[in-house]
Amino acid sequence: MEDRIYFDNGSTSWPKAPGVAEAVSELLTNGAFNINRGNYTGAYEVAGVVLDTRDKLAEMFQVQDSRRVIFTPGVTCSLNYFIKGFLKEGDHVLVTGLEHNAVMRPLYQMTRKGVTYDVIPVDEQGNLDPAHAESLIRPETKAMIVSHASNVCGTVVPIEDLGEICERRQLFFVVDTAQTAGTLPVDMQRMKIDMLAFAGHKGLLGPQGIGGFVISDALGQKMEPFIAGGTGSQSDLLKMPTCLPDKYESGTMNLPGIVGLHAALSYLTKTGIDLLREKKMELTGYFLERVKELDGVRIVGRPDLKSRVAVVSLDFLKMDNAVTAFELERRAGIMTRVGLHCAPLAHQSFGTFPKGTVRFAFSACNTRKEIDICIEVMKELLANS
Ligand code: ALA
Repeated sequence: MEDRIYFDNGSTSWPKAPGVAEAVSELLTNGAFNINRGNYTGAYEVAGVVLDTRDKLAEMFQVQDSRRVIFTPGVTCSLNYFIKGFLKEGDHVLVTGLEHNAVMRPLYQMTRKGVTYDVIPVDEQGNLDPAHAESLIRPETKAMIVSHASNVCGTVVPIEDLGEICERRQLFFVVDTAQTAGTLPVDMQRMKIDMLAFAGHKGLLGPQGIGGFVISDALGQKMEPFIAGGTGSQSDLLKMPTCLPDKYESGTMNLPGIVGLHAALSYLTKTGIDLLREKKMELTGYFLERVKELDGVRIVGRPDLKSRVAVVSLDFLKMDNAVTAFELERRAGIMTRVGLHCAPLAHQSFGTFPKGTVRFAFSACNTRKEIDICIEVMKELLANS
């Protein structure tokens, strides 16, 4: 990677935390034994790491009982659990104008089963008015599903205000933390969150294919396990166990993913997410300042560091965004993500649909020097446009 510059951390983080690759390799080399099935020492050892990973996630998201932490392949699967396992014909939900297709596509599928939804509008910077959200609640509204921060432009939504509304109006509050877990402090209890969907491979710095959700007691009693199968518990029954986490964890788990995530969480605990966030935001502030030197480039989203994460989208008004991204890589090995970022609704909100934007998402390992190189290449491209 020496001669390449990785600015696509919104998609998946790179590099992963120190120790992740080693932990995965060690498990696969020395005994990737299945848990909840084999009654032998090696299996119990792996089970111990899985339990410790749950405990670390429970601590990170401020929940008392780590049985409420459920492992899935990631945010998309977790949101499908809610949208397909909880919503029924006649139910109405609210989503924001920032949502990703991980929410919109399963929700669209459920409209064929009589579920309806409304979109809480956001302005061109991604800002949302909680009072407007409340005005859209109907008697049949059951839940609010909200991206904590936009994966397109990095704007953070006022999660505490929305959580307070959900509690007062008796709605379940579902939060997609794809862009915030491991970056912003998330306190499920204080924020009144009933379901928190997380990805292990972005801000948490673990491997791809592992993530999950954390569920409140109230929602855990109502949400059906929309995937059913073997859990290694109560195997004499055809119905799924009702205890957590078994209720929502059928089939052999992604153990390499979990031990990798375990190593990543150990690193995050030791280093502190505040320190990593400070580094990312310092770089984001520097990038935003330097982008203002460029002509014909619109910063999509907030132009400052208020209420945002380290994800910035640019719209090149005089150039094709796809060609820009291609040239950034061809000339200087700069990796970005261009297009709609699986979030066409967000781009509609920002006025960048259907052409999309070029997205730059920073990690704590990026440097000012890399940003300087990127700005120089963009100046070169703009000069020749
Ligand atoms: N949803 C991920 C992104 O924003 C993959 O790039």
